[in-house]
Amino acid sequence: MSIQTTLPEPVGYVVGESKPYRATVLSFRPLMLGEYLYLEYHGYSVLAMVQSTTTGSPIISDNIVDPRDVERLIKFVRSGERVFYHRASIKILGHVSNGGKLTIPPVPPPPGTEVFKAPKTVLFKVFRPSGKEFVRIGTLLREPDVEVRVNINKIVSRHLAILAMTGMGKSNLVALLAKRIAELGGTVVIFDYHGEYGSMKLSRIFVNVLSPVLNPRKLSFEELARMLNIRSNATRQRMALYECFEQIKHSDTKTSFFDALKKCLATRATRYGVAAQKVLEAVTTYERYLGKILDDSVDDVLNRMALGAINVVDLSELHTPQADAVVAHWLHRLLDARKEWIWSGGRKGLPVPVIAVIEEAHAFISNDESTATRSSAESIAREGRKFGVGLVIVSQRPRGLDPNILSQIGNLAVMRIVHPEDQNYIAKHCEPITQDIVEELPGLNVGEAILLGEWVKIPSVVKIDLVSEKSVGMDVDAVGEWSKLANS
Ligand SMILES: Nc1ncnc2c1ncn2[C@@H]1O[C@H](COP(=O)(O)OP(=O)(O)O)[C@@H](O)[C@H]1O
Ligand SMILES: [Mg+2]
Repeated sequence: MSIQTTLPEPVGYVVGESKPYRATVLSFRPLMLGEYLYLEYHGYSVLAMVQSTTTGSPIISDNIVDPRDVERLIKFVRSGERVFYHRASIKILGHVSNGGKLTIPPVPPPPGTEVFKAPKTVLFKVFRPSGKEFVRIGTLLREPDVEVRVNINKIVSRHLAILAMTGMGKSNLVALLAKRIAELGGTVVIFDYHGEYGSMKLSRIFVNVLSPVLNPRKLSFEELARMLNIRSNATRQRMALYECFEQIKHSDTKTSFFDALKKCLATRATRYGVAAQKVLEAVTTYERYLGKILDDSVDDVLNRMALGAINVVDLSELHTPQADAVVAHWLHRLLDARKEWIWSGGRKGLPVPVIAVIEEAHAFISNDESTATRSSAESIAREGRKFGVGLVIVSQRPRGLDPNILSQIGNLAVMRIVHPEDQNYIAKHCEPITQDIVEELPGLNVGEAILLGEWVKIPSVVKIDLVSEKSVGMDVDAVGEWSKLANS
């Protein structure tokens, strides 16, 4: 179906040689990077985007050696003669079908094809699809009245990485997504490294702030062994710990977990000798340190989580290894509880899909340290899709992220990144991004993001909405605060 009749004057024409996915346009005005264009050829209605734009002149050329010649030529231009050209290379995004789906036509646009500014009706179809799973997250950077919606289902099925330098709007996007998901009745768990989400006040949405403590009896044996720093090849130590943990896991909770554990280990000296003694020493050494994250009196994490709400696990008072143990426990419990739900046919386990967000992900899913979270997160990245557990990783240091996990993530929101190592790393390990997009990253401002992957129909450059309800995490006005004190 052609919409040619409603189109205004063309902005230019296709010239030279074109390909099905690329063409050159000679235009009446300079075209903007990222601007959307519209063409019709061979029965296709095609959306395209400006990928590079050039202005030049065959007359005011770089062969001129005398600036006075340029002056004379400029006078000539003022008298109305046209001496420059505007040329752009455009990327053909696809034929726009009625549902807003885009498919690249198998034929290139012929030279002489008229090129128009993309009509709003076409942009709305592509960027503002209807359906419950699509939520608003901002507007097109170059077309501020075109709303951009993303598909939340795809975050659950293909995960998301939010990557950018500090202060570019990552946490704001997390807050926005959490708010949108909760508005849909969805459940989110944010691991809040800086303690910046707990104070968020949202109307009609419950923000459930959780302290980062775990019930030690709900740990897995591997988790406990890791917390006590028992090496994986210390077989006898592990056996002593295993026996005692099994014994006290189900015992009454009147005796504290650590007291019961120590008491039991003392009785294992005859069977395991020094090994039992070593474990006992480890328990004594780490008891206080672990006291910050282990507490007999708290309920299991799954019971403390609120469904249809934003759960914020406040990690701000923990050291990174403690926080790592907490995040790892949550992640593996969430995945296991969803497996249980699916496998029991909905009789046991966690009844709803969930999205987990890891801030400062390079500390937890690091490419050089084998953290506890790395293996939990890897399981979710690999099989979360089948069970309805989505993972969102947020980082200002993409080059520190585990490449295996990064390569399993199908959706990206990237904002300003100038460090070449970070740029190269994401170009190499993130499936949806290409080198030409990476080159655009330094040109973005705060709150501007390139969205890639299945949660959008096409790569989109977006101005993300600001979540005014989240005030913590904003830059401190140090000079302002000092002057207040000085004047008081
Ligand atoms: N989409 C946006 N629109 C306008 N301002 C924004 C936007 N996103 C972030 N900001 C501003 O930038 C500041 C830092 O954002 P934040 O999300 O905390 O960055 P990051 O998590 O990447 O360090 C915010 O306090 C806010 O003032
Ligand atoms: Mg942040």
